[in-house]
Amino acid sequence: MKQQVLADSAWQRIVNFAADKATPCVIIDLDTVRSKYRELLAAFPFAGIYYAVKANPDTAIIRCLHELGAYFDIASVFELKKLLDLGIPAARMSYGNTIKKSADIAYAHQQGISMFASDCESDIRKLAKFAPGSRVYIRVLTEGSETADWPLSRKFGCQADMAIELIMLARDLGLVPYGISFHVGSQQRDIATWDAAIAKVRFIFDRLAEADIHLEMINMGGGMPANYGNRHHDIEAYGNAIRRFLDEDFGDHQLQVLIEPGRSLVAEAGVLVSEVIQVSRKSQESLDRWVYLDVGLFGGMIEAIGEAIQYPMVCDRQSDELDEVIIAGPTCDSMDILYEDHRYSLPVDLQEGDRLFWLTTGAYTTSYSSIEFNGFPPLASYIIE
Ligand SMILES: Cc1ncc(COP(=O)(O)O)c(C=O)c1O
Repeated sequence: MKQQVLADSAWQRIVNFAADKATPCVIIDLDTVRSKYRELLAAFPFAGIYYAVKANPDTAIIRCLHELGAYFDIASVFELKKLLDLGIPAARMSYGNTIKKSADIAYAHQQGISMFASDCESDIRKLAKFAPGSRVYIRVLTEGSETADWPLSRKFGCQADMAIELIMLARDLGLVPYGISFHVGSQQRDIATWDAAIAKVRFIFDRLAEADIHLEMINMGGGMPANYGNRHHDIEAYGNAIRRFLDEDFGDHQLQVLIEPGRSLVAEAGVLVSEVIQVSRKSQESLDRWVYLDVGLFGGMIEAIGEAIQYPMVCDRQSDELDEVIIAGPTCDSMDILYEDHRYSLPVDLQEGDRLFWLTTGAYTTSYSSIEFNGFPPLASYIIE
């Protein structure tokens, strides 16, 4: 499994680095971030790459991507402040969250943010008042939640008819109608979901052109996959297919294309190192062996909820005899079970202190880990430059 995910040299670098580190922690290898960025650039040469900072807001990652020329998708004024403090100009950011306080819109506008996502009338009115003259793009609902491992459906976006009305309202209120966005769901395994979404955007462009509003931009969100060791197309296949869909629907159009990758840029750069605290059975005869780790749903592995994301795992104890286990976290919350249906196999002589390395954990782990649940500190993170 490991070989399918990480090159041997990268793996060794991480294992050596982790040897004297207390667990749990995530080790991020910036070389992998760099190569994933170059891979995305090669696959999507027609698109501006806006890194979704929420995936991993580590300053070293942000700096590294800034040096490589990335733009940034921010979700809050806190991400905005962080990036400004790192010397990244507001012009290189897009405020991609459709849920914003008036005061935050005003602050972002003051700081120079000029591009905002929106999906409802009240937000458009707030933008017109507190960020006058800004460029807005409307997020539309898309299909595809069944084929995304981490769906983002329902909560964000609006139907096409409403998107058209909102763009008209934006124009009437003095905002600049700029484009349409969507997100087909994170770790989206079906590339065809972009096809349907792009066709919907084209329909909206055409309807608005009839009202003499000529949109310029399509923001195709994230959703491109990371390698979790299971079957998936590579980034190049995504780029080629999506370019074809764009050509089919927008071949006759001058179009600015944006993507907002998070997971596909940083997940593979991370390895979460954990330790076994306890191994037990509920009765002498029980077939189920429970393995309790020092990391769980609340310590950074929340995407294992519902076993949605199944991280590749490597155990440092070598053994010929393996048996299936149930894996759980360390907190006093019975929700804190990582994997029960998806059975990982571990050595029958697994013991306290053995290390489990969780691969492809560079995205949505540190940023999701709780501050002090059961007293446990947030997940530690180290960078290998
Ligand atoms: C607006 C927006 N853009 C981009 C992303 C990143 O998506 P992914 O990690 O699938 O690339 C997210 C994820 O939640 C998002 O909400």
